[in-house]
Amino acid sequence: MKIAVIGSGGREHAISWALAKSDKVEQVICIPGNGGTAKEAKCTNINPSDCDYAEGLTGIDAMVQVCAYEKVDFVVVGPEDPLALGISEQLWNCGIPVVGPKAKGAELEASKDVAKTFMQKYGVACAESKTFTNAKEAHDYVAQKGAPIVIKADGLAAGKGVVVALTEQDAQDAITSFMEDGKLGEAGKSLVIEEYLSGVEISILAAVSVAPNDKCGQSYGDNVTIVPFVTARDHKRLLDGAKGPNTGGMGAIAPVQDVTSEQLDLFNKNILQPTLKGMIEEKMDYRGFIFFGIMLTKDGPKLLEYNVRLGDPETQAVLPLMDFDFADMCKAIINGTLKDFDFKWKDGFSCAPVAVSGGYPEEYKKGYEISINSETVEKTGTKIFIAGGKIENDKLVTSGGRVLAASSFGKTFDEAWQNSYKALEAVSFTDMFYRKDIGLPGAAESL
Ligand code: AMP
Ligand code: GLY
Repeated sequence: MKIAVIGSGGREHAISWALAKSDKVEQVICIPGNGGTAKEAKCTNINPSDCDYAEGLTGIDAMVQVCAYEKVDFVVVGPEDPLALGISEQLWNCGIPVVGPKAKGAELEASKDVAKTFMQKYGVACAESKTFTNAKEAHDYVAQKGAPIVIKADGLAAGKGVVVALTEQDAQDAITSFMEDGKLGEAGKSLVIEEYLSGVEISILAAVSVAPNDKCGQSYGDNVTIVPFVTARDHKRLLDGAKGPNTGGMGAIAPVQDVTSEQLDLFNKNILQPTLKGMIEEKMDYRGFIFFGIMLTKDGPKLLEYNVRLGDPETQAVLPLMDFDFADMCKAIINGTLKDFDFKWKDGFSCAPVAVSGGYPEEYKKGYEISINSETVEKTGTKIFIAGGKIENDKLVTSGGRVLAASSFGKTFDEAWQNSYKALEAVSFTDMFYRKDIGLPGAAESL
């Protein structure tokens, strides 16, 4: 099989690596990929802007052109933006199967209002909320409700659209900045204002196969399913002890040891099953991945958000635990045979701390050479997934804030943790920074 992966981050490196491990996969086309996929076995980076045959095309049109030209068997879409723009429809229209929902499903991430309306309609356990398009009404609502309270821009805002306001003033300022000052452009013109939930967060990534199974496209058979993967946890704050500013993710672990089977049962009953029911009733063609961002509250797990893709950096911790063929699983998602797919997970733990550029998440410099002592890294069994790295003059150099994740396995979490941190000591670039406590007690933010 020849498979295309859309995206350029650490998640896409992990997806490409997982696909390439399959004996049935001959080549993975990474569109555009990064410095990690450039060096990965069986992987080829293709940037549409370098292709004559995609001349004059931009964005998802150019990506689709590459997939068609390369005659790939199917495509896995990493990030949310191309999905929200309808890349799945375009690919299916060209006869190319896709792992990634069509635009209607992608709205569950692209619009917080759509997501909350869906959650409320189908009884998904979540925070109470109200949507506003008028700034004065939003200010009045916050004045009435008080703090803590959560202000969420409706549209996609690359992680900058949520303010957990601990004081009423912070909430009012967020409304002013999003709605009146237009800080996030269109994404902030409408706001969801939400009840503050306290607890500790986990991420559950899942495979989804929901699609009409007859030729008229009307009936959804009993083959539809959402299969959750092992639990994971991101660490979003920059500094040890969950301190400092929010980031795109400073490291992930899987599975999470402090989740009880009772909490997982409640997740299944109050979040997963109602989501599946909603997807069917809304007649979605949703064949791809979903990410449940969950707060474990004292009243049980509640859904904070859906992402219509795998999480980053959770993917870098979760995929190495697979004891099954990832390419086969993608085919099962597409073909509607996921229900019968034999999921097996390694008996052990993953730890994947992320190394970032000094200064991140604020200003940082790029272009520093990344040196990796492969022998030491290999001894620890660690896989380095590159996120913000590219090849320049044959050298791997930094090109982003989150540079790489050191993903290790261990029979115990402690072993996985030791392996990751030993491996990170064999990696260096100027101003490299990483948290030392990923997965340790006190590392997870507790709201
Ligand atoms: P979201 O994009 O909705 O997941 O929000 C981003 C982050 O904001 C989450 O990962 C939580 O840490 C926090 N957050 C979102 N909603 C709430 C809430 N209702 N209560 C407390 N924290 C929240
Ligand atoms: N780790 C959170 C996300 O991927 O959005």
